[in-house]
Amino acid sequence: MKVVGGSASLNLAQNLARVLGVDYISVQHEKHPGGFPDGEQYVRLQASVKGEDIVVVQTTHPDSKIIELLLLEDAVREGGAASLTLVIPYFGYGRQDKKFEEGEGVSARVLAKHVQVQADAIYTMGLHNPSVLGYFDVPAKEVDGMPAIARYLKGRGVDLVLSPDKGAVRHAKEVSEAIGASWDWLEKERIDSFTVRMAPKNLDARGKRVAIVDDVISTGRTIVSAANAVKGQGATGVMAACLHGLFTANALEHLKVCDDVVSTDTVPSPVSKISVAEDFAAAIKADR
Ligand code: R5P
Repeated sequence: MKVVGGSASLNLAQNLARVLGVDYISVQHEKHPGGFPDGEQYVRLQASVKGEDIVVVQTTHPDSKIIELLLLEDAVREGGAASLTLVIPYFGYGRQDKKFEEGEGVSARVLAKHVQVQADAIYTMGLHNPSVLGYFDVPAKEVDGMPAIARYLKGRGVDLVLSPDKGAVRHAKEVSEAIGASWDWLEKERIDSFTVRMAPKNLDARGKRVAIVDDVISTGRTIVSAANAVKGQGATGVMAACLHGLFTANALEHLKVCDDVVSTDTVPSPVSKISVAEDFAAAIKADR
């Protein structure tokens, strides 16, 4: 087995190769210095993949990384690999998992159908809705990323693990059980992309250190609103931990209301301090 790292997931891919104890194959991204003048992408594998089981690691966000993934898959197949497994740490477009309104398409489905086209198996993490796995025609698994968040939080004196909405309460429960804390949730009302309101709710937060956990932080408004709610109820410390840190639109500035903000390395960012390499490695090993 060998691991190829796409440019959206370089650190994670290198860590994955290390944990699996296999070779890492790097990728050349420019045919000529400066790249193609029209902005089109280029990939060239820097080692042979002939007869090998190849794992390509690439998050499908932002959009240009989707094209790069398709090019990498083709390069692996052209190189004569025996098999191709995709690790898609963050599956971009997963939130449009159904047709919500007339005239829309199903973005998660169209992405699944296209990225799987040359693959034998898919591993991903923290899907907004696990039903997205059903859009793949090849074996597809969602690897649990919450144990990685629990590894980070353990020993940091967290008393209460909180989910900012009811949809994520299973994450709060799982992390709280792993670190020996209590758990609770808030009721979120999303007004628009940048406005979130928390319904009033009494939390047992006075004098406690609270960790808010979520699958995704995008604008950060959900976490900011939740952090203000727990601070208003007397929490002594508030930290936030997520799987996928997109941190759009100055989110990290707004999130300074928290004492600490961390994400995993499914999406690289200045605060992606938690690696999920061992979680993907364990899932891949279990299936071999
Ligand atoms: C929503 O269902 C997700 O779990 C996140 O809470 C949401 O995507 C976060 O978005 P934002 O950071 O923009 O509030």
